[in-house]
Amino acid sequence: MTAAPVQRIKGGVHSAVRHESAVGHVTGRAAYLDDLPAVPGSLEAALVLSPHAHARIVTVDFARALAVPGVRAAIAAGDIPGRNDIAPILKGEPALAGGVAEYVGHPVAAIAADTLDQAREAARLVDVTYEVLSPVLGIEEALERGLLVSPEQKIERGDIAKGLAGSPLRLKGEVRCGGQDHFYLEGQIALAVPGEERDMVVWSSTQHPTEVQHGVAHLLGVPFNAVTVEVRRMGGAFGGKESQATIIAGIAALLAWKSRRPVKLRLARDDDMVATGKRHPFLIRYEVGFDAEGRIHALDMLYAANAGNVADLSPAVIARALCHADNCYYLPHVRLRGLACKTNTVSNTAFRGFGGPQGMFGIEAVIDAVARHLRLPLETVRRRNFYGIGRNDVTPYGMTVEDNIIERVVDELERAVDLKTWRNEIDAFNRASPVVKKGLATMPVKFGISFNLTSLNQAGALVHVYTDGSVHLNHGGTEMGQGLFVKIAQIVAEAFQIDLEQVRVSATSTGKVPNTSATAASSGTDMNGMAALNAAEQIKGRMAEVAAGHFGVPVGEIAFADNRVFAGNKSLAFGELAALCWRNRVSLSSTGFYRTPKIHWDGQAGQGRPFYYFVYGAAACEVAIDTLTGEMRCLRAELVQDCGLSLNPAIDLGQAEGAFVQGMGWLTAEELWWDKEGRLRTHGPSTYKIPGSRDVPPVFNVRLLPNAPNREATVFRSKAIGEPPLMLAIAVWLAVRDAVASLGGHRLAPALDAPTTPQRILAAVDDIKARAANMGR
Ligand code: MTE
Ligand code: HPA
Ligand code: MOS
Repeated sequence: MTAAPVQRIKGGVHSAVRHESAVGHVTGRAAYLDDLPAVPGSLEAALVLSPHAHARIVTVDFARALAVPGVRAAIAAGDIPGRNDIAPILKGEPALAGGVAEYVGHPVAAIAADTLDQAREAARLVDVTYEVLSPVLGIEEALERGLLVSPEQKIERGDIAKGLAGSPLRLKGEVRCGGQDHFYLEGQIALAVPGEERDMVVWSSTQHPTEVQHGVAHLLGVPFNAVTVEVRRMGGAFGGKESQATIIAGIAALLAWKSRRPVKLRLARDDDMVATGKRHPFLIRYEVGFDAEGRIHALDMLYAANAGNVADLSPAVIARALCHADNCYYLPHVRLRGLACKTNTVSNTAFRGFGGPQGMFGIEAVIDAVARHLRLPLETVRRRNFYGIGRNDVTPYGMTVEDNIIERVVDELERAVDLKTWRNEIDAFNRASPVVKKGLATMPVKFGISFNLTSLNQAGALVHVYTDGSVHLNHGGTEMGQGLFVKIAQIVAEAFQIDLEQVRVSATSTGKVPNTSATAASSGTDMNGMAALNAAEQIKGRMAEVAAGHFGVPVGEIAFADNRVFAGNKSLAFGELAALCWRNRVSLSSTGFYRTPKIHWDGQAGQGRPFYYFVYGAAACEVAIDTLTGEMRCLRAELVQDCGLSLNPAIDLGQAEGAFVQGMGWLTAEELWWDKEGRLRTHGPSTYKIPGSRDVPPVFNVRLLPNAPNREATVFRSKAIGEPPLMLAIAVWLAVRDAVASLGGHRLAPALDAPTTPQRILAAVDDIKARAANMGR
């Protein structure tokens, strides 16, 4: 018997194949929802948004709006046939504001008309009378008044009072980070098409088709089986289409129900920015007890987030923030408190990292303060606090860090960049340069993978093999540009040992794979990939039996390789075997399912093992600031990113680059600015600055950590990649602080929150100069 040939198939796992729609993306042939040919009779929709941050809605009068030619339907909260509630976690979050409008931009009513212009004109003519109430706009005001959208959360270990009292040194401080708009290139959009009886098909740009299905069903008062939600691809989502898409899809469905016509609702960029939620800004207060070596003995942290007007996903965001307040550090006595403050602003929501970035931002501010207080390098203080292996390895929430590779990752980075020499170059530059100052900082990352809520960690898939050997693949995950579809196709190609081009991924649909979780928490490939593998393995098992019968050998001797199926030196093409299975009346279709093992979480106690594993990374960044104008640039970024055994190094590299630049935007340039009336004044690209191609560091090297298989049995030992590298950008914020600190001889910690806009940098420069002068006196 000769062994099956080892020649590899084209496009299996671990190969750097391009995104499945790469050509479509660059040629414009990849269709987004708005590109779909209009169904005859389709209507366009427009929203009526509240101009007040807080107001009672007294009357809604559609008379003038309905008189506009072409207008086919108008709805307000009172017209909703089912339950006006689309809350993803709690209850009582309306799609259309009912009794009160709670933020400027709150959808109050909606219009459907033959054309978009007619719909928008009619929306302007809807007469809403309001009784204006006083709004609460900031975190502090909400804290003072005790206004929260969900109960306080706490994670605690040891005795914080004793721990602080017993520490040789103590510091107190406060730091803030801002929110962030998702700025997906494709804005929120949905197309709802009424079908027979109560049926409704909704094409939605959503990360969470099942939640859209549930939201639409609740609003229409129909069972879930009357609603089918489909999504082929999103033009970016970044967490902004996890829960927020349901608002848009829900309103489109209501208008479709009312008019009995297909209705498309697509928000203009400015309305999208004003009406839909963003990253949570945080106010973080800390008290830290430590010793002269920089070892942390006790840490007391308060994380207060601006949740906006309703809870949405805020409780889960807070939980993840608290579960990342340790980052890579062992904290003996620790108390972490999280508050989701209720304000009259848009409801904040998931955004890449989901509270993790804010959690780490807090502890890194603490480490920075401790290091500067002791005049020790940041890297030294960090290493003294890193989780150990076999000791000091339990997180504040009671999970043992079993897969700790942070020292390896940090070592690899420091070696690759020669940190010492680099630091000397920066110091030399600063001595010679009076106006432009440079800063250098590093950042280690440990990010937990899995949804905190254990039940969300499940996924399904549906695989068909056709009789020509081509494969139809469907799974519960959604494609938002992150490369999920190609990775899962690679997994299925690998399972069947056929070329990638034999596998066709189809649009995500609640009718094909039911009861799915959001494609979020970076776990899309981990979970849907395993479910697809499970489905493929079942079909493969049946095919192997047929092959065994055909060749007259035991099943154990059947091998799939190189697009063929072998029994010793005899073989059939994969397609020939598929046809043979059909003739033998053997099913070539299977569902697949996966549940993440080992995880559990008690949210009440703040204890458990919420994460299956951790992803690690490290970065070093150089920035320059102009001390006269406050401008800054990141000049060089060096990254090491763990992604286990990468399923697709090309995709993973792109994810690391994109996440880092997005994180840099959050911390340096993107500023959301509300006026005293609670109106967002930065609601378009002219006033809200996302990083452009010229903001990408001119020296930018991303290294995927080699030979680092996941310790846990994930799909082909890969690791999640979508969110973790975003937090590496905290190095940029720390580097800006370092540049400012150089003005005070590195003896003082700068007062510099994020984002580091020119105004903030100038203020921090003035502040540190004044403090340094005082010290000199
Ligand atoms: N990459 C692109 N191009 N577009 C996106 O919208 N979203 C990010 C990340 N990478 C996003 C992206 C977020 S917030 C998450 S949680 C993950 O992708 C989700 O996909 P995954 O679980 O398949 O990694
Ligand atoms: N990440 C993203 N989305 C979520 C999570 C999470 O951890 N939990 C609930 N929704
Ligand atoms: Mo990502 S914030 O989990 O959608």
